[in-house]
Amino acid sequence: MKIYIVKSYEELSKKSANIVASQVILKPNSVLGLATGSTPEGLYKELIKLYNKEVVDFKDVNTFNLDEYYGIHRHNPQSYYYYMRNNLLDHINIEKNNINIPHGLAEDVEAHCMEYEESIKKLGGIDLQILGIGRNGHVGFNEPGDDFKAKTHLVELQEETIKDNSRFFEKPEEVPTKAISMGIKTIMSARKILLIANGEGKAKAIYDTIKGPITPKVPASILQLHKDVTVIIDEAAGKLL
Ligand code: F6R
Repeated sequence: MKIYIVKSYEELSKKSANIVASQVILKPNSVLGLATGSTPEGLYKELIKLYNKEVVDFKDVNTFNLDEYYGIHRHNPQSYYYYMRNNLLDHINIEKNNINIPHGLAEDVEAHCMEYEESIKKLGGIDLQILGIGRNGHVGFNEPGDDFKAKTHLVELQEETIKDNSRFFEKPEEVPTKAISMGIKTIMSARKILLIANGEGKAKAIYDTIKGPITPKVPASILQLHKDVTVIIDEAAGKLL
């Protein structure tokens, strides 16, 4: 693992955007694994800036999102589909057909998950997977206790995650309790992984991920076994290291 502790969220965003941009510059038809949430918002803003400066071109890039809420329509502003379009995809020259985000209203969820895995495989696998991390150590929506061997699947979200996500919803009962998520096995199959985290609330999860035992109780801890992981965190998130 390469670990960078940076001074500010701005620095974190710039450094991580540079890593994504260099991936695309060196391999224009890269397959990128994308995350949502508040952590990568700055990264996406910086990527859009690099695109506008013509430093990076997304026309041959394919993307796969880590997850999507289950039971939510794509046009619902709380959906990850909406988030991705709003925060990145509508602002760069990516082909619409190259965008892959799990479908929250998939009728046959199991078949949809299998197709999602197949589509990743057909494109040769994910070159660079961007990850945020939950306070409980989740990556994607792989919650503590989930099987390390899982591929894309339907997940029951845990209390802490539902509570953390409620900040984006008007009423608590609107917060979805299930999601479709790439599994740990899908994530671990990416050639490179970029994990980003900021703020004190993530300090324990970051400590457990990097220094703790490798256990499904901390899903991100398996990243210790991946051969190419870069972690970029601010000082608050790194304070227990
Ligand atoms: C989002 C995702 C989640 C988030 C995590 C952190 O696609 O997969 O694992 O990365 O919940 O969220 P934020 O960045 O909002 O703290």
